[in-house]
Amino acid sequence: ANAPLVLGIETSCDETGIGIVHGRRLLSNRIASSMDEHARYGGVVPEVAARAHLEALVPTIDAAVAEAGIELEDLDAVAVTIGPGLAGALMVGVGAAKALAVGLGKPLYAVNHLVGHVGADLLTVDSGRIEYPTVALLVSGGHTSLLLVRDLVDDVELLGETIDDAAGEAFDKVARVLGLPYPGGPEIDRAAATGDPTAIRFPRGLTAPKDLERHRYDFSFSGLKTAVARWVEKREADGEPVPVDDVAASFREAVVDVLITKALAACRDTGVPRLLLGGGVVANRRLREVAAARAAEAGVELRIPPLGLCTDNGAMIAVLAAERIRAGHAPSSLLAAADSTL
Ligand code: KG4
Ligand code: ZN
Repeated sequence: ANAPLVLGIETSCDETGIGIVHGRRLLSNRIASSMDEHARYGGVVPEVAARAHLEALVPTIDAAVAEAGIELEDLDAVAVTIGPGLAGALMVGVGAAKALAVGLGKPLYAVNHLVGHVGADLLTVDSGRIEYPTVALLVSGGHTSLLLVRDLVDDVELLGETIDDAAGEAFDKVARVLGLPYPGGPEIDRAAATGDPTAIRFPRGLTAPKDLERHRYDFSFSGLKTAVARWVEKREADGEPVPVDDVAASFREAVVDVLITKALAACRDTGVPRLLLGGGVVANRRLREVAAARAAEAGVELRIPPLGLCTDNGAMIAVLAAERIRAGHAPSSLLAAADSTL
């Protein structure tokens, strides 16, 4: 069968992502980010994000179509992120996708954002295939989720997720405590490079035996964030300098330790010797290091797509729809209520 030509729209957070794929082949992946506009608030402001999507959508679609060298009329389908994400931001993308689908007379496919992150792996040049089943750990400013993917198009199970802050959000909040600019992830990564990760023993959320009973695959980072803030406050109250690099390294170690320990526990428990990483926090150097070392030790195959496909983008949404078309799935209804649950 012919590989479907699909345009994907992603607007769940602060990235306006437009991707075009031909089956699993990536033709274009354009991203307009409103990150700079959120910087002075220290986090993503939903209303600001939604307005930025409104402004960026049409120019970004135009740029993607030009880059792919196609005409909109050539498309076989339009795909869009239906959730989870910021409601106002999602509505802009869904509205545009419906208009495009109706205007072109093409089917619309609504895609779950988390499953989209898993699909990003399909676009990597070397493979063009994921081995199933696989466990997937998705870590960004908006989500921290552990998935068991038995089949990408119709069997994805949410094993666990954060019960408070997302991992990236914790990086951003701790950066603020340390006086580092937003987004905090790259700043903490940099500061941590010269710090001692064992300098301060920060708490590992939801890893005590009693927590593991109910929250084996769930995450919690708000206690860690508070512990860092308390530690810094106490130093300042004592009139002592704050060793920013040691705090950054010790905090980063705590986050990475919990993420990888729980992801590999999921691999072990389910008997699935594969782990896929996704989301913007994958840029973290220590996360990649620890993941590689501990996966190798556990005999788990580790897959990390290139960073441009790990962060939010439209291509991962488009390729998911292409897979669904190939699997013979019907398009989404233009009128049905959005269902973004896994
Ligand atoms: O996936 P992403 O670009 O956007 C969404 O959150 O949807 O992820 C951004 C998040 C921010 O919280 C940022 O601080 C974090 O990823 N991040 C990092 C690093 N680079 C970005 N966190 C830790 N270490 C990094 N090197
Ligand atoms: Zn995401």
